[in-house]
Amino acid sequence: MPNKLSEFLNKPHWRRQHRWRRAIWMNMARLGLTGIHALPVNRRWVEIHWQNMPLANLDPAMEGWKIAQISDLHYSPVVWRKYLLQFIGWVNELEPQIVVVTGDLITGGYRYARRVATLLSHLKAEHGVICTFGNHDYSIYGRRENGEGKRRADFLESSLKARGLIVLRNESIALKTAGGKTPLMIVGLDDEWSGSIDARAGFEGVDPRLPTICLNHNPANVRELLHYPWQWMLSGHTHGRQVAKSKLGQALYPQRYRHYTHGYYSVSGRHLYVNRGLSYGQRVQDWCRPEISMFRLEVAN
Ligand SMILES: [Fe+2]
Repeated sequence: MPNKLSEFLNKPHWRRQHRWRRAIWMNMARLGLTGIHALPVNRRWVEIHWQNMPLANLDPAMEGWKIAQISDLHYSPVVWRKYLLQFIGWVNELEPQIVVVTGDLITGGYRYARRVATLLSHLKAEHGVICTFGNHDYSIYGRRENGEGKRRADFLESSLKARGLIVLRNESIALKTAGGKTPLMIVGLDDEWSGSIDARAGFEGVDPRLPTICLNHNPANVRELLHYPWQWMLSGHTHGRQVAKSKLGQALYPQRYRHYTHGYYSVSGRHLYVNRGLSYGQRVQDWCRPEISMFRLEVAN
């Protein structure tokens, strides 16, 4: 199989492959086995989702910039390096100016903190690779509110920083282009489930007139965050969660977790995008493939 994304998508057999891959996916979905896409037959079947990102007051010098979003890698003994590494190569081929990683980088133990830092250090982006954390970065089991969670997240932060990656935990960063006047603000919020989120700290000093993108792992709290001056919010966490819309989902998920499951949402005039992530757990219904999201910046009218 070809290694490069462009070669892969341009293969003449792609359309035919697309049909039979979809057929396999649908049948596996009926058995609740869509995680099967990680097997060699479907491993490369990622969706590259392109989306324009209009921002008010964006510096015209930044028009056309590309932001790549990846999420929910869940690096651990069951999510292999080889599987994740292919996405890193593909993101690089798309030549983004910024890469954002919106949480759940690891599910494995401490050694995976160092491993994910090495993996992500292969990403190339002129204005940096920005990471924020999710619930699994605090706990292998997804939810824990004790000192061990913080130790684990702190260790992940230092591992990422040692590899030259930017980590935002209730902090913001101002990005500027050469000759540009108005910075682009990126605010990274910390994980909610461990009680680490502090939006007030994250937005402190952020001028509401500036174009601002908020990175927030779990989109369930988007309405509570409308008090803060972001124009776009990029999230993950759900792995698509299509089941939330079904009858079973209504029984399983509290109201709060049923609304923002995947894709684009307009929320009170703001923009929310929920990425389905790269890892292969919980993809229980059809057509819920792993995803790389690509945003193209434009000046909003
Ligand atoms: Fe998560």
